[in-house]
Amino acid sequence: MKKIVLTGAAGRLGSYLREPLTKLADELVSSDIAEDIGKLYPGERYIRADLADLDQITALLDGADMVVHFGAVPDEAPFETILGPNIIGAYNIWESAYRNGVRRVVYASSIHAVGMYPKTERIGTDVAHRPDGFYGLAKCFAEDLARLYWDRRDIEAVCLRILSAAKVSNPRAVSSWLSYDDLIHLVERAIDTPVTGFTVVYGVSNNDRAPVDNSAAGFLGYRPKDNAEQFAAKVFAEAGPLDPTDPAHMCHGGPFASVPIGQSGQALMNIADDRKKT
Ligand SMILES: NC(=O)c1ccc[n+]([C@@H]2O[C@H](COP(=O)([O-])OP(=O)(O)OC[C@H]3O[C@@H](n4cnc5c(N)ncnc54)[C@H](O)[C@@H]3O)[C@@H](O)[C@H]2O)c1
Repeated sequence: MKKIVLTGAAGRLGSYLREPLTKLADELVSSDIAEDIGKLYPGERYIRADLADLDQITALLDGADMVVHFGAVPDEAPFETILGPNIIGAYNIWESAYRNGVRRVVYASSIHAVGMYPKTERIGTDVAHRPDGFYGLAKCFAEDLARLYWDRRDIEAVCLRILSAAKVSNPRAVSSWLSYDDLIHLVERAIDTPVTGFTVVYGVSNNDRAPVDNSAAGFLGYRPKDNAEQFAAKVFAEAGPLDPTDPAHMCHGGPFASVPIGQSGQALMNIADDRKKT
């Protein structure tokens, strides 16, 4: 492959993807709205671009074979905050992909597209959307956009419904954890699988208590290795008994399913900024 574009390159997940992605193409173009992303890896170039600006994104995708689209506001927020980066931004990515003849978009979707399902229900990749807020709704929009651009414009898409890619620090994460190594493996498979059409796959590690079913996406060969069970006893003991009627514990979306719509869910999650330094 000649060129891969990574959006959200200054972000936490982007920081772990940059180096492995340089190995999959002659050139990696990393992009974000941030001023810079520090020292670049061999084969990497940085272009600053605003996802909400169609002209900037069309120029960014010039000559790209694939786009790994991770740029977004990653939290629940007022609709006006989500609209530009996450909704218009998604349109700009797929429309620019079409204009530039890009083959495939690998997209960081989220469990929050289906966050209101109860966790006692093991959900597959084909359940109807059931977002838990404006953030999840934007992920639903982007997944439907991906399907439209596959059905009508032949652009392949792999939508990675990531559960929680962060250190295991609460009981929910014992089932929802996606380790950084498994994230890299998942993105590699989304890129190197020869034909994907439109595909949805959950981004979760090989946790004993993983609450989702990836069997319909088995052809990707995603075989996660890490298991959050190693953290279970300590995390459960620290948390004590949980209220089973609280949507934060009951629903796939966790805290996002219990905070008022438009208010931060991440604020309740104690997520460490452990992005990889270059
Ligand atoms: N971390 C998780 O557990 C998780 C779970 C589900 C989905 N996701 C998704 O994965 C992606 C990356 O998440 P993260 O945790 O690394 O978040 P992050 O905030 O660390 O990274 C997102 C990046 O997007 C950039 N960005 C925001 N608005 C932009 C704009 N208008 N133009 C260009 N770039 C812009 C930010 O500057 C940031 O660097 C997001 O799409 C998020 O929704 C993450």
